[in-house]
Amino acid sequence: MSEPRSIAPVDGKLGVLTVGLGAVATTLIAGVELAKRGLGKPFGSMTQLGTIRIGKRTDNDTRLIKDFVPLARLEDIVWGAWDVFPDDAYVSATRAGVLEQGRHIEAISDTLREIRPMRAAFERKYARNLTGEHTMGDVPKRAMLEAIRADINRFRDEKKVDRVVMIWCASTEIYIEPGPAHQSIESLEAAIDANDETISPSILYAYAALLERVPFANGSPNLAVDTPALRGYATAHNIPISGKDFKTGQTLMKTVLAPMVKARQLGVSGWYSTNILGNRDGEVLDAPENFKTKEESKLGVLEEILEPTKNPDLYGDIFHKVQINYYPPRGDNKEGWDNIDIFGWMGYDMQIKVNFLCRDSILAAPLALDLVLYSDLAQRAGLGGIQEWLSFYYKSPQVAPGLYPEHDLFIQLTKLKNTLRWMMGEDQITHLGREYYDEI
Ligand SMILES: NC(=O)c1ccc[n+]([C@@H]2O[C@H](COP(=O)([O-])OP(=O)(O)OC[C@H]3O[C@@H](n4cnc5c(N)ncnc54)[C@H](O)[C@@H]3O)[C@@H](O)[C@H]2O)c1
Repeated sequence: MSEPRSIAPVDGKLGVLTVGLGAVATTLIAGVELAKRGLGKPFGSMTQLGTIRIGKRTDNDTRLIKDFVPLARLEDIVWGAWDVFPDDAYVSATRAGVLEQGRHIEAISDTLREIRPMRAAFERKYARNLTGEHTMGDVPKRAMLEAIRADINRFRDEKKVDRVVMIWCASTEIYIEPGPAHQSIESLEAAIDANDETISPSILYAYAALLERVPFANGSPNLAVDTPALRGYATAHNIPISGKDFKTGQTLMKTVLAPMVKARQLGVSGWYSTNILGNRDGEVLDAPENFKTKEESKLGVLEEILEPTKNPDLYGDIFHKVQINYYPPRGDNKEGWDNIDIFGWMGYDMQIKVNFLCRDSILAAPLALDLVLYSDLAQRAGLGGIQEWLSFYYKSPQVAPGLYPEHDLFIQLTKLKNTLRWMMGEDQITHLGREYYDEI
């Protein structure tokens, strides 16, 4: 046992600001509101349903995570959002078509109608397939930054919330290479004043959050908070940050299957992944400059798990392809196909086929909820900077410079739970287990 961390009490209300009030955000909000009223269960959420073992296997001490660590209660969450479209959460959830209208939208219609988005900090060049006009207008980046900060403070005052967390649930922006503007707060400040193109709205939201001491979680692959400037700022001011890109469908599968193949020393010659997706996210990703941001996030996973340079015979020559095709008839119900060409003993070839008929936002909403609650916990526990223990939720986990990200889902899970044990002063579970045999 070690000393538990000192964790500030969970009193009062938690304000959750979602950037974007689209499919994921409204599915998150509606799901939490339904769960609060006993009208649905928050399946998929570790903070609501997950358990954690404390001590040795023989201690028989397994608890609900929400009873083990002091998390904000769903009842204490207050919502706010920004969007490029003026639709309230009721209209937006209806339009997204994820949840059943009668059972899951009408049942909480009053609450959903009260959640009206604030005007978005947005420029068309970062997501050209979006036509909404509920924006701050064509104003300089400095003015956008200040307007986001003012929105955060007005939300705090009007809703009387004690703490705030911001989560990016807005569209994927065009691909931006980290460059000189992102290296330090000084260069970032200068670039904002110069209206530099490499300062996208997601960077402005992330910076505004940090300036207001609000933890920031990034559900998209956008650069946002993943720059030396903002990493440094978050660390120096002890504000939790995490990203990037919710790990929901195909990449979730990849980070389970690839470690399995590697664990058995099976080779891979090709991995072909394709998807059809018909929601607004799919429409935005239909623009090649936006898809490139997603592609980078999806492609990195295999290389980082399989480590071809360390295993050249097995993984030195893989053909890896990822495609997302916009196909409106399916809406939010994404279908993904993976064809994996593997080889085994003496080089004999085999194939694995995966056909995942998933529901994008149904998978993403519980991750968003957990990220909000864990980011708030991290803040109260005095843990600032990158929260690598939240890698479990992301396709491209943010890690300290010089570290490679850990993608294996089960290592990520072990790391997350060990972090919770460490916070609460309980022993780490290493799975060594010698003591059970030494005592016989
Ligand atoms: N659903 C999943 O499984 C999943 C998985 C991984 C990542 N993501 C990412 O999560 C994000 C949200 O996905 P979604 O399905 O809810 O998309 P969506 O298109 O339904 O919602 C995104 C919303 O963000 C708004 N928006 C765009 N730019 C904005 C800005 N600058 N400020 C405020 N609002 C802005 C859009 O108008 C839209 O309503 C996307 O970036 C997506 O790539 C989703």
